[in-house]
Amino acid sequence: MFDALTKSAARNIFYGGSLAFLLIFVSLTAQSHFYVVQKSTAHAPLTESVARGKAVWEKHACIDCHTILGEGAYYAPEIGNVFVRFGGDKNPAEARDAIKGWIQAQPTGIPGRRQMPHFDLSAQDLDDLVDFFAWVGKIDTQNWPPKVSG
Ligand code: HEC
Repeated sequence: MFDALTKSAARNIFYGGSLAFLLIFVSLTAQSHFYVVQKSTAHAPLTESVARGKAVWEKHACIDCHTILGEGAYYAPEIGNVFVRFGGDKNPAEARDAIKGWIQAQPTGIPGRRQMPHFDLSAQDLDDLVDFFAWVGKIDTQNWPPKVSG
């Protein structure tokens, strides 16, 4: 101990330090609440169809070939941004039909091109999948993946 550190100086350091860290804690909490949460999906609440679409995605193990938000296999394009890549932010109805049409048209059989198998999905499955893709597309990924197709 320094001789110079009096009891009251030690107490002031204790109270000052506690107050400083309390202020940092409160401001980070406020930042999470007002800034981070708004950029998350809190503004895009889950709907039944989004949840069902995720279940279709899992049931057919689409992730065995695709990534979603960078997570998954690197055989086929990223799916997290597929709705936006198909123009869903500008024309959602057209993007919806295009994605469903694409899935139904597989495999293309084009030589030299990676193939996606045909999945026997109901009209409901396809609609739910697209709702799921549209929802995932709203997540702010801070520009991940760096290459749009993953
Ligand atoms: C065996 C691997 C494989 C599986 C499993 C698979 N896909 Fe694909 N998928 C591909 C490939 C390869 C492509 C790209 C083909 C091309 O560009 O010609 C593709 C492309 C797509 C595209 C278009 C993406 C784009 O950016 O153009 C969508 C949408 C899609 N898949 C959805 C699905 C869904 C939904 C499932 C699950 C039901 C699924 N895929 C399962 C291989 C797969």
